Amino acid sequence: MSTSTNGVRFTLDGEAIEARPGETILQAARRHGTAIPHLCYADGMRADGNCRACVVEIEGERTLAPSCARTPAPDMKVHSRSERALHSQKMVLELLLSDMPETAYRQDSELDYWAAHLDVGEPRFPHRCQPEPDLSHPAIAVRLDACIQCTRCVRACREVQVNDVIGYAHRGAHAQIVFDMDDPMGQSTCVACGECVQACPTGALMPAGVAAELTPTQATSPSEWYGPLRAGA
Ligand code: SF4
Ligand code: FES
Repeated sequence: MSTSTNGVRFTLDGEAIEARPGETILQAARRHGTAIPHLCYADGMRADGNCRACVVEIEGERTLAPSCARTPAPDMKVHSRSERALHSQKMVLELLLSDMPETAYRQDSELDYWAAHLDVGEPRFPHRCQPEPDLSHPAIAVRLDACIQCTRCVRACREVQVNDVIGYAHRGAHAQIVFDMDDPMGQSTCVACGECVQACPTGALMPAGVAAELTPTQATSPSEWYGPLRAGA
């Protein structure tokens, strides 16, 4: 295999494929019909590589690599479904699920989608103490008990809309999404553009008054990429 003028040839799960110039392993895999879970990555956004749901095994490398933030090299051998990669992907999803509220705030939660895709059952881990809802804004409901801290809303607000209202503050177990100087959203400088709502994969940010209803499908939602889950998929 070699680098052609069109891209980079590498092996994914035993199959030789070609990545277009600049394409990540995740993007190339998707284009060839291989579904790798991902949560902090969304189309049109800078990859942040923070959730680790998308890790893959690369032959010759000691640690697993985030496929959303890694471009393939010529002749690289990548395994997205090896025992080690799947174990890690499922563990990330299970840990995130353990903190979710009992009732999902959106029916098309991307976390639920990937958990179903990988057959992740009831989480075995205790539920963390989560922030109270913030319903102070007339247009956007904030329920950070469903937040997986993917920072897609931060990138949407700061890098897409250049509003810079949303931030990620505090440390360790106390780290959380904040608005301006940790103000209630209704008292922040939010202009209600809705970019963060569109970006949020779990419904932690939703249009006010429609929590638990299906929101308009995101251009980046997994079902848009791969279609609805089939039994046994
Ligand atoms: S509020 Fe939503 S988009 Fe923002 S970090 Fe939490 S889960 Fe991600
Ligand atoms: S999607 Fe790759 S690290 Fe989150």
